[in-house]
Amino acid sequence: MASTRSTLQPPLEKHSATTLEQRYFVSAQLFAREQQEIFARSWLLAGHVNDIPNPGDYFLANVAGESLIIVRDATADVRACYNVCRHRGTRICENESGSVRILQCPYHNWSYGLDGRLLAAPHMDEVTGFSKDEYSLAQVNVGVWEGFIFVSLEPDQLPLSDWFAPLTGKFSPWNLARLNCVRRITYDVRANWKLIFQNYSECYHCPGVHPALSKLTPYDSAENDLCEGPFLGGFMPIRRGHSLTLSGNASARPVGDVPSEYNHRVLYYSIFPNMLLSMHPDYVMVHQVWPRATDRTLIFCDWLFHPNAAGSSNYNPEDAIEFWDMTNKQDWHVCELSQQGIASRAYKPGPYSSRESIPAAWDREYLRHMS
Ligand code: FES
Ligand SMILES: [Fe+2]
Repeated sequence: MASTRSTLQPPLEKHSATTLEQRYFVSAQLFAREQQEIFARSWLLAGHVNDIPNPGDYFLANVAGESLIIVRDATADVRACYNVCRHRGTRICENESGSVRILQCPYHNWSYGLDGRLLAAPHMDEVTGFSKDEYSLAQVNVGVWEGFIFVSLEPDQLPLSDWFAPLTGKFSPWNLARLNCVRRITYDVRANWKLIFQNYSECYHCPGVHPALSKLTPYDSAENDLCEGPFLGGFMPIRRGHSLTLSGNASARPVGDVPSEYNHRVLYYSIFPNMLLSMHPDYVMVHQVWPRATDRTLIFCDWLFHPNAAGSSNYNPEDAIEFWDMTNKQDWHVCELSQQGIASRAYKPGPYSSRESIPAAWDREYLRHMS
């Protein structure tokens, strides 16, 4: 949501930036290239450790066309593997989430441990030279940052801690690793995934699109501290004594122990390529952005609260969830309108305003990955 104040704006020449060429929003070839160059190569947000608190808890993630199983193993580590049986390739898990003791293929009942090792394969001991040790499930890189689970299909991926090194400790006061997801809403948006990031990265659109939000956070009040690279964003002040909820009241006890100046601020950060992290004093909202076609994006929006929030007298998560569900839908609507117009033969890249320096920076990062 953040656009920069004049004192924090990048050098002037960057303001001559224009929006991306039409082909980046409509070309199936470029979509396939994004999947290969970005989504099959980057660390991607897939969930939160508290989504799978116990051994055997799992969920599936669809990454660059691959189905992955993200599971907590018997030693409480989080693991990720391809959802592909080593016998004849069959999908092992069909349900999007659940809890299992072992991973058992439904076809011929090959059974795998939660660590992916093949434990049992009926009648395969009759096959000369067969060794279970050689048929573990294919593993995928997995890491945890501030409680969020990231996966990467890239075998030579740099460690997640290296990727997030520029943000080390930055968000610790928000207690992210301990928060619980209270609600997820899935949105199926008829727009290119990049429009979701560009929309999130400025509040130039807020006065017209978000009248309720604009009353609580002045649209031109953003201050960004990350202005170039894969991590972008900053904060916007919230009117004193208010919260970003329908009622304007706080929806829960504070999520963490943040410095006092942050008691009246909302932080908006985009984390390339699929995470939007919005930290409020009383709750945290996280969007996972999953491209499905040039003009279709699935968005998982999670609302996280303090683990003991339900015990506090002011606990009213719906107040926050409904506020942002309304605001999200306002955003998705203009993103869909943008997609429709960009697909026109009349579309030409347009000039970004001085309040759209972050979308322009996001585009530069995107093009670096695509070049
Ligand atoms: S395909 Fe999985 S057990 Fe045969
Ligand atoms: Fe918006």
